[in-house]
Amino acid sequence: MAFYEVYSHPALIRYKTSVCTKATLFLVVVVCLTYIPPLLVAYRSQGFWIKRSTYEEQPVVRFQYQTLLVAATSTDGDYVAWSTFPHLNNMLGSRLRIPSVSVREEDKNQDGKLDLLNFQLELPLKPDEQVYSIQLLLTFSYQLFRMSTVVMQSLAYVQYSSSVPGSKLFINGDLRLQQRTPLPHRGLYNIYNVSVIDGSSPFAASYDLENIIQMYQDRNLSTVLSCPMPVWTVGRAAASPFQLKAQIRYPLELITYPSDQTFTCQLVLLIFLWVFERIQRFVFQNQVLTTVPIPLGKPHLS
Ligand SMILES: *[C@@H]1O[C@H](CO)[C@@H](O)[C@H](O)[C@H]1NC(C)=O
Ligand SMILES: *[C@@H]1O[C@H](CO)[C@@H](O)[C@H](O)[C@H]1NC(C)=O
Repeated sequence: MAFYEVYSHPALIRYKTSVCTKATLFLVVVVCLTYIPPLLVAYRSQGFWIKRSTYEEQPVVRFQYQTLLVAATSTDGDYVAWSTFPHLNNMLGSRLRIPSVSVREEDKNQDGKLDLLNFQLELPLKPDEQVYSIQLLLTFSYQLFRMSTVVMQSLAYVQYSSSVPGSKLFINGDLRLQQRTPLPHRGLYNIYNVSVIDGSSPFAASYDLENIIQMYQDRNLSTVLSCPMPVWTVGRAAASPFQLKAQIRYPLELITYPSDQTFTCQLVLLIFLWVFERIQRFVFQNQVLTTVPIPLGKPHLS
């Protein structure tokens, strides 16, 4: 009569030992070795292999209508200026020159987010005045929503100078995000939702470009105007104003954030669990450490 395997199931074998044995010590060591390394790996990896991920997002940008303009009218340090800050304008005295300004923001692709700022300014000049350099500062509100909610106030700064007096400066650049550290991947990030220029301050130092840029550049998150090709036009007719035309784009940004370490930790733990399961099976099956094996179905020893 031929025999064949009609059914099979794995047999459960219990290994018993008392508390003060090598087998107990072995078990304690195995448990420690299984759970501690994954934690160490996760802990070390925060500073070791800093994991960073990126995502793309077009920011929500609005021009805040705050402007500061300084134009050098000679090579000896004479200048005229204008701003949207009444305290500063008062301090400028005879150097204040009120330009005509036109501002238009466009949503070119109709996706509900503005894509471009058109900023035009005409600065009236006296017949004997010439423009040798321009410093222009504009402020923006800048927001991101996709991962963490970022709300900040930021600026664009342009400086151009020439040894030849000009009639017009044309700039066309991108307002780029400058990230010194990764952004949190969730929550509200609004520590930079503060005015770049304190317009309520009556002190001249608050409007000093050096101070403003110094404080701004200390920030971990800011914007910078990338404008590699300014166009300076020379030859101004005596009575005509100096023209400044700026087109500032709000482009799609690649944003960096720290990636989640939980996954790495879980993976390492699974590997360790698997390895130590094998080791324990080998040790107990082969009675490397003495225990009392009890196959399934036999009465339990106490
Ligand atoms: C950001 O600041 C503006 C004005 O200072 C305030 O109205 C707004 O609620 C602030 N937003 C957040 C998210 O902090
Ligand atoms: C800016 O980043 C540095 C380095 O990560 C950090 O030490 C500092 O606290 C951050 N500053 C703010 C205001 O978040």
